[in-house]
Amino acid sequence: MTLLKFQHIMSNEIAKRSFLSRPPEPPANVLISEPLKAIFIGTTKIFKVPFSWSFANLTNPHIAVVGITGAGKSYFVKTFLIRASYIWNTNAVIIDWASEYKAWVRQSGGTIISLGKGDYINIMDLSGMKPLDRVKQIITSFEILTDLADYPEQRRLTEEALEQSYVNAGFMVSEKAPEGKDAPTLKDAIAILEEQLTEGSYEYPAELENAIYRLRQFAREGEDYFARKSTLDLAKMAESGLVDIDLANLPDERFRALAALFILQTLKERMRIEGSAEGKGLKTLVVLDEAWKIASDEKSDAVMIVREGRKYQFGLIVASQNPTDINEAIFSNVGTTFMLRIRFEKFMNYLQGSLNFSEFIKSEISKFGVGQAAVDMAFQTALRFPEIFVLDRVKGEEPLYVYTLDMSDVLTQSELSASVIQRDYQFEGDELKNKFIEYNVPAEAIETVFKTMDSQNRSIKMLDFVRMLRANGVTTNDVVTFLKSLSIDDMLITRIISAAGGA
Ligand SMILES: Nc1ncnc2c1ncn2[C@@H]1O[C@H](COP(=O)(O)OP(=O)(O)OP(=O)(O)O)[C@@H](O)[C@H]1O
Ligand SMILES: [Mg+2]
Repeated sequence: MTLLKFQHIMSNEIAKRSFLSRPPEPPANVLISEPLKAIFIGTTKIFKVPFSWSFANLTNPHIAVVGITGAGKSYFVKTFLIRASYIWNTNAVIIDWASEYKAWVRQSGGTIISLGKGDYINIMDLSGMKPLDRVKQIITSFEILTDLADYPEQRRLTEEALEQSYVNAGFMVSEKAPEGKDAPTLKDAIAILEEQLTEGSYEYPAELENAIYRLRQFAREGEDYFARKSTLDLAKMAESGLVDIDLANLPDERFRALAALFILQTLKERMRIEGSAEGKGLKTLVVLDEAWKIASDEKSDAVMIVREGRKYQFGLIVASQNPTDINEAIFSNVGTTFMLRIRFEKFMNYLQGSLNFSEFIKSEISKFGVGQAAVDMAFQTALRFPEIFVLDRVKGEEPLYVYTLDMSDVLTQSELSASVIQRDYQFEGDELKNKFIEYNVPAEAIETVFKTMDSQNRSIKMLDFVRMLRANGVTTNDVVTFLKSLSIDDMLITRIISAAGGA
């Protein structure tokens, strides 16, 4: 008893000590990446380092976002998607449970698919798959959403009817379907089962009746959202910029979950069909926000995307108020976890247990305001610094554009490769504008600078920038004060001013 207590005290002491002797944030070279290779998130709380996210050194690109309602999960996701699209041209498919993203997607020029209100998907569509594989997926979805798994006979009858409807429609069940050929629908499968029932040749009519009943829930007149010819081309979904799949108009959670499962299955298949991808960034991000039914079941394709996504440059973002709703296989496989404000002790303990953070981080998280976050990253190689750190807050705008002052024409080759020197300065549009105003940059100069930056991927080289300011009547003194405000050191400022054409 006493021994136990003693050990407990000891390990607490050790935990505290190891925290004190280690730096409380990862080093700057881990937090800061080149602007076109990483996504700016916010500045760190202790050392005020601008943190940009990249998955280059992480175990995988997937992200979990947790926090209570209003903590800023969706805000973070929006900020992240916009920057990913700007930096890497990343496509995004948002599985929008509660119409939370719709207005924003519309405003950002994306596509909205409103299921239950004008748009239909035929869950028997093949998008390049073999009918047999699609049948397996449909059965899996019904197993997740209904009690089909408990009734093997009904399961078999359903599976056979689905296969038979492909055969009747002229498909070879074990071959990839030709493009453009119309798939059968659940209604065809139901008709096959009904025929068996009227024939009366099957010895357990109750099993048939129950199998029919189960399928009919998704094929009733007026609720046949998934049992009609599709109104959209799902194969293109992963390459169509920003796509919001609005599920809020579907009648209930089962319908939403069936749609979400089907979309994940289709996306996963496309990812595999297209094969591994080359390039720096992410090709497609899939967002699951509060889709707990989908994120919590291990048979769900969300788990598959997490396991295989990296090689296809396919990333999954799972957001939830309740971290225990996210399947263990997903949670333990995400490369990054953003923890916003958490209130419930139970959730906090769960996170602390899985991510293994200090009491210090725990107390920080419990004090968070809106938008403040702790970030945990899983690096590919073991490193000698903490993997968790705290951000002042997620810095974003809706919609948001990052502007970059590029130092590459000022720094020498060796300075550029040194990690301690900042290679660029990034600002949000308004932030930069305000800074200009603060340092007496006249309106015309501001306009010229923004015009130029907009035409160059929102970036400008430092010397061009300084020359432009001076050409527009900004005094050398004001330029110097502006540069100082970026914490550029005096020696470097002298070098910039003289390289740009002297004082
Ligand atoms: N980092 C931030 N900076 C400024 N405002 C923020 C930030 N994060 C969130 N907000 C604002 O706070 C409000 C709540 O944020 P958000 O909708 O993202 O919360 P949430 O965690 O998604 O909540 P819910 O679980 O209810 O969906 C929004 O009005 C949002 O604009
Ligand atoms: Mg939200």
